[in-house]
Amino acid sequence: DHGNRARLLAANQAAAEFFAEQLLQPIAEVGRRFLGERGFDAEAAKRFGVGFAPKSWDALTKHLRGRGFSTEELAAAGLVSQGDRGVYDRFRGRLVWPIRDVTGQTVGFGARRLLDDDNGPKYLNTPETAIYHKAQVLYGLDLAKRDISRSQRVVVVEGYTDVMACHLAGVTTAIATCGTAFGVDHIKVLRRVLGDDSGVGEVVFTFDGDEAGQKAAMRAFAEEQRFAAQTFVAVAPDGLDPCDLRLARGDHAVRTLVDTKVPMFEFVLRQIVGRYDLDTVEGRVSALRQSAPVVAEIRDPALRPGYSRELARMLGMDLGEVGRAVKAAT
Ligand code: GTP
Ligand code: MN
Ligand code: MN
Ligand code: MN
Ligand code: MN
Repeated sequence: DHGNRARLLAANQAAAEFFAEQLLQPIAEVGRRFLGERGFDAEAAKRFGVGFAPKSWDALTKHLRGRGFSTEELAAAGLVSQGDRGVYDRFRGRLVWPIRDVTGQTVGFGARRLLDDDNGPKYLNTPETAIYHKAQVLYGLDLAKRDISRSQRVVVVEGYTDVMACHLAGVTTAIATCGTAFGVDHIKVLRRVLGDDSGVGEVVFTFDGDEAGQKAAMRAFAEEQRFAAQTFVAVAPDGLDPCDLRLARGDHAVRTLVDTKVPMFEFVLRQIVGRYDLDTVEGRVSALRQSAPVVAEIRDPALRPGYSRELARMLGMDLGEVGRAVKAAT
């Protein structure tokens, strides 16, 4: 199995080189334009190994077969898919980001659709393989790990372009999950980088305006009580993601984004409370009913009273009343 693993890594490495080479070809104009419109020049593309998968059923397959890789190896590496009449390139007409493990070896790819006539998901990833596990892999961790370990701080963003924008703006502790929500396995990986004993480490999430990923991420962190107290949320203005923020307002805006962080529990409470009209008794009571369970979920006994007070302040309600609701929800 070790031999197999090495072969899969070699195939991914060769594929990354092929894609990077393709990005420089005339056919990749659409890919270079996409990068340019997002504020990434050729040097940035090179730094992150971004490449281009030509719109072809067999360009990569032919190239790698010529390099001595068997069809079985390409299939095991997730680089080709199995059709009725043999295998075909998995990534076609897409911009491709190599996803590297913590040691910098390419284990898979994330690939973005570029053409409107293309059906298929906006982003397509390598499927689960012997070396690619989406529940564990964190994009950018190879580049960020030293600064994460040194600063005991990590910034979690949503996408590949956001990681690039952050690093180019000077936020060199940025990482992202790859086409999946942040989960407990990601936390285990992070904990290894932060150091086993990290009681001071700090995790800052930035989210797009949309709510999809937020909930799962926060659930994962609420699970991990030692991390929960160190988890913060920073939301960019106007629902911009870090990539768009850098485009609209420059590197400085990206660097100061993390300064707007609020503790995760406070962020969650604010979101719930914000849905109700606190000028009415009914609104306040409903808001309390929805938010009390969140405070009740906080297992750290040092934090719960503080958040009860915080919630009472947000609702403009009596602390005793809030305390009773929290207790009832426990
Ligand atoms: P642009 O639309 O080009 O600005 O890209 P974006 O990076 O802002 O995309 P978005 O905010 O929609 O997605 C952020 C991240 O979520 C991406 O980098 C992907 O990892 C993931 N993602 C988004 N859409 C899909 C999808 O259709 N399938 C999968 N598997 N992942 C997705
Ligand atoms: Mn494995
Ligand atoms: Mn989004
Ligand atoms: Mn986005
Ligand atoms: Mn974007």
